[in-house]
Amino acid sequence: TDEPLVLGIETSCDETGIGIVRGHTLLADAIASSVDEHARFGGVVPEVASRAHLEAIVPTMQRALDDAGVSLADIDAIAVTAGPGLAGALLVGVAAAKGYALAAEKPIYGVNHLAAHVAVDTLEHGALPEPAIALLVSGGHSSLLLVDDLAHGVTPLGATIDDAAGEAFDKVARLLGLPFPGGPPIDRAAREGDPEAIAFPRGLTAPKDLAAHRFDFSFSGLKTAVARWVEARQRAGEALPVADVAASFQEAVCDVLTAKAIDACRAQGIGTLVIGGGVAANSRLRALAEQRAEKYGIQVRVPRPKLCTDNGAMVAALGSHLVAAGVAPSRLDLPADSAMPL
Ligand code: KG4
Ligand code: ZN
Repeated sequence: TDEPLVLGIETSCDETGIGIVRGHTLLADAIASSVDEHARFGGVVPEVASRAHLEAIVPTMQRALDDAGVSLADIDAIAVTAGPGLAGALLVGVAAAKGYALAAEKPIYGVNHLAAHVAVDTLEHGALPEPAIALLVSGGHSSLLLVDDLAHGVTPLGATIDDAAGEAFDKVARLLGLPFPGGPPIDRAAREGDPEAIAFPRGLTAPKDLAAHRFDFSFSGLKTAVARWVEARQRAGEALPVADVAASFQEAVCDVLTAKAIDACRAQGIGTLVIGGGVAANSRLRALAEQRAEKYGIQVRVPRPKLCTDNGAMVAALGSHLVAAGVAPSRLDLPADSAMPL
C-alpha cells in the first residue's frame, strides 16, 4: 500500500517500547521493561527507569525494525511520547527520536501519551468513530475524555482527584502481599473471590459529590478502607481472605469507572466508549463495561491487554493518525514535557 510507515517510541515510564505501523496495521511492537528492577521498591524508581531506557533503546529499535522487516530508511515519520511522564525517562526517548529523525531525515511528531493510549485502539478496531468517550486508566492517570478530533487533541471531562486507578491496584496488592505491579495478581486472585464479600466505598458517587465531581474519580478513600479492613483482620490474628478482598476491591473500582464512563456517554449522547491504559487489561472492567454499555446501545472498544499497557505501537498509531490527518510535524527541538496537558 502507499500508506505511510510510522515508527513510534515510548519511554514515559518503565517500558522502552518501539512500534511500527502502516496505516492501522501493526507491523512490530518491541518492548523492553525494567519492571523487575522496580518490583522490590513497590513502585517505579525514576532514575532506575531512565538508566534502563538508555541501555534498551538501541537494541529495542533494532528488534522493531527486524520484526517489521524494514530499515530506518523505509520509515516515513517518527513519533515519540513527549509527555506526560517521568522527566528523565521521557528525555531518553525524545533524544533518541531526534537522533534517528535527524540521521535519516524524517519528520518527527512529539505526541501525548494519553492520546496515544486512545489511538492504539485503531490498530485493533480500525478508525475511531468521533466523537467518542475515552476512559483512560493507568498507573499514572484516570481520566474521562471527550474525543472530538484525536488529531487535534481531546477534551478532559474529569480525572482522579487523588490516586490513579492503577496506583490503587498496586497499593492494595502490596497490602495483600501480592507482587508489583498489582493489577494482574489482583485480577487473578479476584476470580476465586466474592465481589460482594466486603462493601468497600465508591468514591465521588454520593449525590453531593456528583454535583461538583460527576466525571471525576477518587480512589484514596477506597485504598484506606481496604488498609483499615486488612489491619483489623491482622490485629485479630485472623487469616486474610485475599481472594474476597481482591474481588471486593476490584468491584468497587470497576463499578465506579464503568458507571461514570457510561454516564459520560449518555450525557454527551455518544455511542462509542473506548477504554485504554494498563487497567483496561482488567478482566472485570472489560466485562462490566460491556454489560452496562449494552443496555444503552453503547459500543465498547477495548484493545487486547498487551496493547493496553504502555508500548511503542500506541505512539506509532497516534503518529500514523496525525500523518493521515495532515498535521504538521513538530520542530526538531521539541521539548519533553513531564506535565504535558492534553
Ligand atoms: O498504562 P500502564 O502500563 O502504565 C502507565 O502509564 O501507568 O499502566 C500500568 C498500571 C499498573 O498500575 C498496573 O497495576 C495496572 O496498569 N494493570 C492492571 C492490570 N494490568 C495492569 N490493573 C488492573 N488489572 C489488570 N489486569
Ligand atoms: Zn500509560
